[in-house]
Amino acid sequence: MALLGLLVLSLFHVSLVGSHPSSQHASSPPQPAGEQSPEGSDNLSFPWSRLRLPRYIIPLHYDLHLHPNLTSLSFTGTVQIQIDVQNNTNWVVLHSKGLKISKATILDQNLTHLSDKVLPVLHHPSHEQIGIFSPRVLSSGRKYFLCIEFGAELAEGFYGFYKSTYRTSTGETRTLASTHFEPTSARMAFPCFDEPSFKANFTVRIKRNPELISLSNMPIVKTVEVGDGLLEDQFDVSVKMSTYLVAFVLCDFKSVTATTSSGVQVSIYASPEKWQQTSYALEVAVKMLDFYDEYFNIHYPLPKQDLIAIPDFESGAMENWGLTTYRETCLLYDPLTSSMSDKLWITMVIGHELAHQWFGNLVTMEWWNDIWLNEGFARYMEYISVEATYPDLKVEEYLLHTCFAAVGSDSLNSSRPISSPAENPTQINQMFDTASYDKGACVLHMLRHFLTDDVFQRGIVRYLRKYSYKNALNQDLWDSLANTCSEEDFISGKHCYSSSQASKNAYLFAGEHLDLTAMMNTWILQKGIPLVTVTRKGAHLLLRQDRFLRTVLPSDPLWSSLQKGFLWHIPLTYKTDASNTIHRHLMTTQTDSIHIGEEVSWVKVNTDMTGYYVVHYEDGGWDKMTKLLRQNHTALSYKDRTQLIHNAFQLVTAGHLSLDKGLDLIGYLQLETHNVPLLQGLGSLQAFYHMIEKRNEIDVTRKLRMHILRFFRAVIDQQTWSDGGSVSERRLRSELLSLACHLDDPPCLERARQSFKHWLQSNGTLNLPTDVAETVFSVGAQEDHGWASLLHTYNISSSAAQKGKILFALTCSRDTNKLHRLLELGLEGKVIRSQDLSSLIFMVARNPQGHRLAWNFVKKNWDTLVQRFQLGSSCISSIIIGTTGHFSSPEELAEVQLFFESIKEQASQLRATQVALDNVQKNVRWFQRNLETLRNWLNQQM
Ligand code: BES
Ligand code: ZN
Repeated sequence: MALLGLLVLSLFHVSLVGSHPSSQHASSPPQPAGEQSPEGSDNLSFPWSRLRLPRYIIPLHYDLHLHPNLTSLSFTGTVQIQIDVQNNTNWVVLHSKGLKISKATILDQNLTHLSDKVLPVLHHPSHEQIGIFSPRVLSSGRKYFLCIEFGAELAEGFYGFYKSTYRTSTGETRTLASTHFEPTSARMAFPCFDEPSFKANFTVRIKRNPELISLSNMPIVKTVEVGDGLLEDQFDVSVKMSTYLVAFVLCDFKSVTATTSSGVQVSIYASPEKWQQTSYALEVAVKMLDFYDEYFNIHYPLPKQDLIAIPDFESGAMENWGLTTYRETCLLYDPLTSSMSDKLWITMVIGHELAHQWFGNLVTMEWWNDIWLNEGFARYMEYISVEATYPDLKVEEYLLHTCFAAVGSDSLNSSRPISSPAENPTQINQMFDTASYDKGACVLHMLRHFLTDDVFQRGIVRYLRKYSYKNALNQDLWDSLANTCSEEDFISGKHCYSSSQASKNAYLFAGEHLDLTAMMNTWILQKGIPLVTVTRKGAHLLLRQDRFLRTVLPSDPLWSSLQKGFLWHIPLTYKTDASNTIHRHLMTTQTDSIHIGEEVSWVKVNTDMTGYYVVHYEDGGWDKMTKLLRQNHTALSYKDRTQLIHNAFQLVTAGHLSLDKGLDLIGYLQLETHNVPLLQGLGSLQAFYHMIEKRNEIDVTRKLRMHILRFFRAVIDQQTWSDGGSVSERRLRSELLSLACHLDDPPCLERARQSFKHWLQSNGTLNLPTDVAETVFSVGAQEDHGWASLLHTYNISSSAAQKGKILFALTCSRDTNKLHRLLELGLEGKVIRSQDLSSLIFMVARNPQGHRLAWNFVKKNWDTLVQRFQLGSSCISSIIIGTTGHFSSPEELAEVQLFFESIKEQASQLRATQVALDNVQKNVRWFQRNLETLRNWLNQQM
């Protein structure tokens, strides 16, 4: 050992030159990382000090052999990685996390070992890297094979190669093993160059017992017997792809299969008894693949696409190429228990993951700072694809909510630019947030509208073609959309052709040369959302843009510093009563004015909310809108009406508009027949109600409740307790009845109790109308017997959709002991799976009897929660934001601050803590500003 150490050390010195970082990291020499060396390499120190790997060793192909054992809950494997060495070096540095490396060797192109000794392997656990030392220099320009033997336990959580279990109807527990790698967990399953720009081909082989099946990205080419009664599945070599998209599953699932028009085999896999719930997903997946093939004008490149429902799954779904994985509620549609919104959700999730097969898999962002290029597009494509394949679902009605969600977080100071730096796994994980998804999608919607559908589509097709099997930067997207050709493109004549239409449309908008990059940079590289204030001055409309902040007023001393340097290129649109046309104006300065003519009586800016900005109508402008809605609300589209309601209440929170003006604006809603604005108005009132019912404001709470019920009486009474009608009608019914019962509306409660009684009498076998089942269960859960029966059904139900509804109902109990029991069950993770813990906490916190309980639970079990879900995960974010979101007193604010102080080291790494503090601050101000106004307004209504 000592001898090897010495030998190695001397070689280490001579060859140091080779381990210098090259290309983008070329500026400084490698620093000793200060980690302990593993046995046998005492005198070597880790050769690389950065989080990102050196660029001079490029993986080309992985030959991955795995042998998972579902009895011992562990796996072993070997990986042979063909690497292209571009600098002389003695070191190969790559990722590995929690793997026990038993052997590492390096072979040359002729498969000759470079050394007759086993190579020293150094570990750098905090960087999740290993360094393999080759006594012989690896020469620049040559290719080698790196061979590593490794093993580990199947992971306990939801990342890497992890175990999952399910129970059969006979009570038997079965185990499976599945993977989730994005963003940085491939390194938990095999040593690899785990960064999105190291694309390579993968050949996977998996050993298994004959009673199991194995799945991976590609189809099986052959299965061979390998002794000990084992079989080995050999999968076809993959296309070039990033490590985070590799996947494999070992299970005993059953499947259904169909074929797309272009011959791709699509299969849906689920545990054997859930097999009947797979047919809807199959239909959707086939239609979607056909749609995307045509829309992107690029064929899905793999011969198959498997979609599999994994019983333990932390997020919603994952787009592994050719083997997308889903939470059961995101894939399985049970005609007897799934509601219309469950169906819509499944359709959108499949639309999302299949969009990733192009946006993300075929073309991948260069680095995680631009994950919006994956997620923003996939979210936006949900709308385009579902609209095209299932027009009856009216998915378009939901797009505004994606934008509203973005506005919600982007109008707090804790927001971030869509494109933001992220280096370590905690930072990278937090990039999967509203900014990447919802703001990304909403900004794309604005861009598409700006460029026209056709130009947008052609631009993204150009982008997808040009960067296929490669990585892209934001600039590449803007260039493809604006159709600017690089020198090289011009010469080759490839991917770049002049589309005069594109320029025509864009210029038509701008009226001059348009710099798409400059425009888009203001949306992607700058955080926040603009507030456009419009004032009528004779024949002109005066415009001003500021950064919209819900927590800070212009009178606040902080205001001006928070505004500094913010400017957007806003593609404004507006409509007036004078014509049916949509007018356009590109606003690139802080103030501006447009000529609209004297005769115009009203102007509505941001037509159908195709732009990402909030509008404030100053100087009696809101009164005009209120009057218009009362007199002739259909003069505006349902989207315009919805957006006016949303804007008004945003401005109320921000202190630009008084609450009674907002409440007056929605006074017209008794005339409203469209469900989207109706639900928007109702939602605004409901949001106040949820906050106020958690304060000791009994009188205001009661009066607000009575007001809501009285105001919406007619439309509530029109609802039937059935599943009939159009999608929009079903959605309205479900929301209205849920609210009415939550507000203790006697007829609603009566009807729900009756249905629940029937359900109990049937021993839980009766199928309630799916859209109202959750409400019926919630009312039934108020009685001890009802609650217990629901928990029992929860435990035995084989429908994830039904379990979701029951769990929600259980969290509506007013009995804190029961709520506490639920939280404990969630923590235990048996009856209530760990995957559902974060939403369970969220739902308990929604309940006025549960919100303190949930908060105390989180404080008490913080370490366990972080261990289970990882610090930067969306689960941790939603736990923090969900349990503090309804706090609204200065004392509660101080309490939240105190807790974050006590977990300072973790809290400082989390954006969610900032968001939570901003939220509570916003609520505190809301109460200070609006409680009395609300009290008076309600008194006037009585
Ligand atoms: N790529 C993500 C999965 C993911 C989420 C990986 C978070 C790493 C961290 C996937 O495409 C996705 O966006 N899933 C969503 C569901 C979907 C319907 C939006 C999710 O899991 O929330
Ligand atoms: Zn996604």
